[in-house]
Amino acid sequence: MTSPIHVLGFAGSLRKASFNKRLITIAADVLPPAMTLEQFDLAPLPLYNEDLERESGLPDGVQQFHASLAAADALLIATPEYNFSISGVLKNALDWASRAMVDGRPSPLNDKPLAIMGGGGRLGTARAQMHLRDIAPHNNMHVLNTPQVYFIGVRSAFDADGNLIDPTVRERIAQLMEALAHWTRRLRGF
Ligand SMILES: Cc1cc2nc3c(=O)[nH]c(=O)nc-3n(C[C@H](O)[C@H](O)[C@H](O)COP(=O)(O)O)c2cc1C
Repeated sequence: MTSPIHVLGFAGSLRKASFNKRLITIAADVLPPAMTLEQFDLAPLPLYNEDLERESGLPDGVQQFHASLAAADALLIATPEYNFSISGVLKNALDWASRAMVDGRPSPLNDKPLAIMGGGGRLGTARAQMHLRDIAPHNNMHVLNTPQVYFIGVRSAFDADGNLIDPTVRERIAQLMEALAHWTRRLRGF
């Protein structure tokens, strides 16, 4: 019997109509067998400030984020590209996530398998994804190398009502999730 894999997925955008949030929702719809996905909205996370942490500990939203990260076997991030890099929203979330948990356990990012994707303009978040690959090892996350999933001109994959009209998007995300399942089982030995 195949062991179940639980994934936490989040997008580095707060926009209601975010294309990257939509990519996470599509991922939840194309999971391989024995995989589940929880979507986390980064909106409740305040801007990182070490004073907050020193004076009153981790804010509630951060504790929820930590708990969801800790409960996950693997992570999925959909990153937008802002000024040739990841968004401040995503970096801020990773900065909070990199802190020790309230019970003293190390960062819940530690040792997590990570799949990356993103949707953007002409380069489809390729530069942002490279930056994310640069910083992920700081917290000992294990980034899946292939397939590389970036959607060039992601806007045109959806109609005006937000419905997906390009079937290759689902196919490529399904391939990514299948690869993440293999990667997670290989790293975890189950
Ligand atoms: C401040 C800002 C900077 C941006 N910089 C880039 C960029 O460097 N490269 C790029 O391809 N798109 C850039 N964009 C466009 C975003 O990638 C695009 O708006 C994308 O849809 C945002 O992701 P979302 O739909 O998930 O919110 C930028 C947008 C903003 C608001």
